[in-house]
Amino acid sequence: MGLFKKVPFGLDISDLSIQVMQLSNKRKIISSNYIDIDSGIIENGKVLNADLLVEALNTCVGASKPKPIKTREVIASLPDSQLFAQVCVVREPADSKNFQAALEQEVRADMPLDLDDLYADYQIFYPGTDKQEVLFVAAPKELVNSYHETLVASGLKPVALDMESGCLGRCLLEDDFGGDNSVLIVDIGARNTIIGIFIPEGLYFSTDVTVAGNEFSRKIADKLKIKFGQAEKLKIKFGVAEKNDRQGVGKIIKEALEPIAKEIEEVIEYNKYKLGKAPKKIFVVGGASAMTGLIEYLKERLGVDVSLGDTKKRPMSTVYGLALRGIAKDPRTDGINLLPNA
Ligand SMILES: Nc1ncnc2c1ncn2[C@@H]1O[C@H](COP(=O)(O)OP(=O)(O)OP(=O)(O)O)[C@@H](O)[C@H]1O
Ligand SMILES: [Mg+2]
Repeated sequence: MGLFKKVPFGLDISDLSIQVMQLSNKRKIISSNYIDIDSGIIENGKVLNADLLVEALNTCVGASKPKPIKTREVIASLPDSQLFAQVCVVREPADSKNFQAALEQEVRADMPLDLDDLYADYQIFYPGTDKQEVLFVAAPKELVNSYHETLVASGLKPVALDMESGCLGRCLLEDDFGGDNSVLIVDIGARNTIIGIFIPEGLYFSTDVTVAGNEFSRKIADKLKIKFGQAEKLKIKFGVAEKNDRQGVGKIIKEALEPIAKEIEEVIEYNKYKLGKAPKKIFVVGGASAMTGLIEYLKERLGVDVSLGDTKKRPMSTVYGLALRGIAKDPRTDGINLLPNA
């Protein structure tokens, strides 16, 4: 048995949806739910209407299936777009008194905000070796406090606040890496695409692009002079396969995909530079990963091994990653935790 009587559940809050999931110790889904929420409750990861969010959270947890989740302990994610993450070199041994000071000095130079306004956590890779590096992650106190207060107001007990991109790494299995290789996960959602480099020890680097599913539909709507809702339907119907696609929907989406493809290429270069070789493969997840023809197109466009991450057989979503943290020996310390005083 783990630290808690009942396994904490995972909660993924995004601008337009809430997902919950609880797993058994054997990684089987015990209960889950997904609800859409109105725009204006959360925008760009910031809570704008806490009362409506509390209501939506209670609805989502209360209606989770097949049996509603009764556990109060929760592991939630914070939106990557609001976090600062940086890999830095700190030679100081992790257990020395000077470690914290050396780390702060290292990150201060690149940090756009005052460290006093942030909650931070870090993870050390290859500790004590000459490859030692530190992943430093920080979140504005205001953001963390608003999530914390909302969860508490919903009658929940936050155990950990993780970073969205880090959660996905937990869904990876040992043989995805095949030794000491790295793997990329590209999460194409509604507003944001997150690209993360994972090494067997966890998340190594992540970046995000503000182009995703909504932007594809917006471009289709603009070019074909139709409503957003219609464009959304065409996007889902045709994708980028260009089969029977007389209006050229696929071509429009491919153009809209370019900033994502270019960013992936840059991340691959960064991966080569920092880790000495190209990533072994790329998994694409998120709602827009279901787009017809996308995986084949990215394979051809990038010339690397690309596959669909989130399938029924192989769950790989943020909420599944959060739920997996729930079955860790100590979910509080199993990865980045931005909850104050955790
Ligand atoms: N079959 C499909 N084909 C194309 N796009 C799809 C399909 N199914 C869902 N989408 C798109 O996926 C997007 C939603 O993805 P997801 O649920 O991962 O977003 P989110 O996590 O709420 O958003 P974000 O991560 O940006 O905050 C929408 O733009 C939707 O149109
Ligand atoms: Mg998402």
